[in-house]
Amino acid sequence: MTNTVAIGIQWGDEGKGKIVDLLAPKMDVVARFQGGPNAGHTLVIGEQKTVLNHIPSGILHDNILSLIGNGTVVDPFRLVEELDMLLEAGIPVEQRLKISDRCQLILPYHRALDAAREAAKGKGKIGTTGRGIGPCYEDKTARRGIRLVDLNASNLDERLDEHLKYVNFMLVEFLGAKAVSKAEVMVALDLARERLLPLVADIPLILHQHIQAGSNILYEGAQGSMLDVDHGTYPFVTSSNTVAGAALAGLGVGPKDVDEVLGICKAYTTRVGAGPFPTELYNADGMCDAKNAGKHMAEKGQEFGATTGRPRRTGWFDAMVVQHAVRINGVTGLAITKLDVLDGLEEVKLCVGYSYQGERLLSIPADCAVLDACEPIYETLQGWSENTFGLTDITQLPAAASVLLQRIEEVCGCNITMLSTGPDREHICHLSSINT
Ligand code: GDP
Ligand code: IMO
Ligand code: MG
Repeated sequence: MTNTVAIGIQWGDEGKGKIVDLLAPKMDVVARFQGGPNAGHTLVIGEQKTVLNHIPSGILHDNILSLIGNGTVVDPFRLVEELDMLLEAGIPVEQRLKISDRCQLILPYHRALDAAREAAKGKGKIGTTGRGIGPCYEDKTARRGIRLVDLNASNLDERLDEHLKYVNFMLVEFLGAKAVSKAEVMVALDLARERLLPLVADIPLILHQHIQAGSNILYEGAQGSMLDVDHGTYPFVTSSNTVAGAALAGLGVGPKDVDEVLGICKAYTTRVGAGPFPTELYNADGMCDAKNAGKHMAEKGQEFGATTGRPRRTGWFDAMVVQHAVRINGVTGLAITKLDVLDGLEEVKLCVGYSYQGERLLSIPADCAVLDACEPIYETLQGWSENTFGLTDITQLPAAASVLLQRIEEVCGCNITMLSTGPDREHICHLSSINT
């Protein structure tokens, strides 16, 4: 039995969907434990590209049970769209998927509040995905959210009326936005009743039975460690815990039910939305380094959000970020993705420390103003002109690429166990360590 948590360890979009889809055939269960439709996980199989928001990335495989845990927030409109997209593609998703009855629902007023709050913040906005994630988790923690199980509650109508008074006060009086009608909310609730209630189940019970039977479970994270509400670049973060520990609370399993933690990261760094990014080279405003490496990453890596289509900011690999992630998640192995994107660069850099007011920091500062003022300390390595796209044999790596990967292992204090060299399921090298 190997129960593995697979998580992003930068600012999201590290290639989790691809890696989870790839590992899924070795698994019996793939389970999502946090986040919601802010996630966009891309799976590429030949000509076919699938982007998933809520549904675990093992869904394309037969005989694998997909679970959506209680820590996840569910938008009925988007999840039903996802179900229909898969059904149209011939995937019997309703036979493969179970959803926790404890999942919180994202309702139209959550999206309206998300948009209105961002608009009110003006230049200081977080750059959320606009999917209502923050307001939904806020209602959950304030103990006024509506869960899937509550769709059957006799007092639901009363609770909704009461809640809409509060929500519309916030929207209209405080934020100057339009009110949300009860009718709009009812459409979402009816859809959830019709299409999602048939899929609800007691997820901890199902997982417990699988654990007893010795099944292999893959816990799939969304976002990345630097977007974690506690450990990330607060307040420029998402509203859930994205770290490996969240897999336990977000599904209802115990610490002994996890064997490995796979930390997924790109061979460089990207970020969508606002917030500190010490090694940033390039963004939509055109910020550029002398050798245009950031632009190269954005263009060759096709760095646009899978969910929102927004351009991603790009920069060098930041080992300070990955070291932080290795510590807070107990990462046991790294999966490095998008190595191929660095092909053709004359030199590649690795940030191995931060200098702040003349002093070298040992870890990521909690204060974003301090992080913003940090100067990256770089090691410069030779680039390579060879093509690594689609490479499956590690022995064929250009020497300079091997040197980069070895330095990543040394500086981050963790072995690389997988190397991704293209978007397709087939573009992968498995290895126990680059150094062996
Ligand atoms: P996720 O949110 O972590 O699942 O990542 P996304 O799907 O949002 O973004 C990753 C993007 O990179 C997707 O378009 C993937 O198809 C693509 N991708 C994943 N791994 C590789 C790789 O090794 N090389 C290249 N060139 N693209 C990759
Ligand atoms: P996956 O799972 C990249 C970012 C948003 C914003 C911040 C808060 O595909 O890696 P939210 O809508 O969650 O309140 O936005 O978090 N963000 C992501 N960035 N990948 C994601 O998911 C993200 N989910 C949220 O851009 O900066
Ligand atoms: Mg993504």
